[in-house]
Amino acid sequence: MIFEELRIRNVRIRPAQILAPMAGITDTVFRRFIRRLGGCGLIMTEFVSSEGMLRQNLKSQRFLYYTEEERPITAQIFGAEPDRLAEAASVIEDLGFDIVDLNLGCPAKKVVKCGGSGLLRDLPLLETIFRKIRSAVSIPFTCKIRIGWSDEEIVAVPVARIAEQCGVEAIAIHGRTRLQGYSGRARWDVIAQVKDAVRIPVIGNGDVFTPEAAKALREQTGCDAVMIGRAAPTNPWIFRQMEEFDRTGTYSHPGDADRYELIRTYYEMLVREEIPGSLGKMKQFASWFTHGVRNGSELRRQVQSAATPHQVIERVNGFFAVPTPEQEASPNLQLHSEHKQDEFAIVADSCESSL
Ligand SMILES: Cc1cc2nc3c(=O)[nH]c(=O)nc-3n(C[C@H](O)[C@H](O)[C@H](O)COP(=O)(O)O)c2cc1C
Repeated sequence: MIFEELRIRNVRIRPAQILAPMAGITDTVFRRFIRRLGGCGLIMTEFVSSEGMLRQNLKSQRFLYYTEEERPITAQIFGAEPDRLAEAASVIEDLGFDIVDLNLGCPAKKVVKCGGSGLLRDLPLLETIFRKIRSAVSIPFTCKIRIGWSDEEIVAVPVARIAEQCGVEAIAIHGRTRLQGYSGRARWDVIAQVKDAVRIPVIGNGDVFTPEAAKALREQTGCDAVMIGRAAPTNPWIFRQMEEFDRTGTYSHPGDADRYELIRTYYEMLVREEIPGSLGKMKQFASWFTHGVRNGSELRRQVQSAATPHQVIERVNGFFAVPTPEQEASPNLQLHSEHKQDEFAIVADSCESSL
């Protein structure tokens, strides 16, 4: 199997398939949801502001909440001030995370001013930051980058070399520049150049929406693991499908009953865990996840007009015609529901929510 395992020092990532950090999406509920579906070897928090963390900002604390079930788990931080980042990384270690990751990719204007992809334009400062964080923590330290600021300033190879020299233990690369945002195609050729240039593990990222694409990314770049972002909330089964495809050359597709189980349990979990903004997350998730469901536009309409999270759940149950208590009593009519999950949504520029 090509994605069987990646080790970042003592941390075993098995299979070598990673859920990308996504602000507004990869909260504790979504991460557990993906973990339970299988096939994902490492999950990451969304990025957290080092300043917010050190000021004990409530939002930052919420972003750093995780459960044992989520291990191995990486916490991602961002910032631009070396000592503060080192301090924040040390808090991450104290909180028990398996890995600390530095964000060098966020394109949002507010973030670029204080870190994110803005640091790709100041390599001396970046080197200082790498060294400070490295000396502040004993857990594995990784970074996630875009390939550069613009087509004229592609710096992935020099950044990866500096990272390696400073003791960074793996590098994830989203194959786009900052100016590209999400337009155009991810440049896997640059990921391949980085793989040739360094010995630390290289994690390939960008535009993988199918198991076939994951395999192609691996074949074209030689990357050690593949990281999946936007495909996860629209097709949370993708990790399992990739694993199956890797093993057998084929993979199964979810049916309506699977989709129902998934959407219902994700929603129930959001409500149970009292995640702030549950209603918005439910609506967002419904807009991605109901494509492919028969008469999905009607379900989307019903969810979008709901006023409370409980109403959303009622409407989802009604749509999929959940059995009445009498039907529940009859084992023949019972819905298959052995493994409950939860699930969820995207907010494109929600980077700012971390500040
Ligand atoms: C809504 C959203 C939020 C994101 N938030 C983060 C983040 O917090 N940290 C980060 O390193 N990348 C973030 N990203 C970038 C993803 O991790 C990933 O690099 C990018 O989406 C490309 O991968 P994909 O083509 O598989 O989606 C975000 C992307 C999206 C769409």
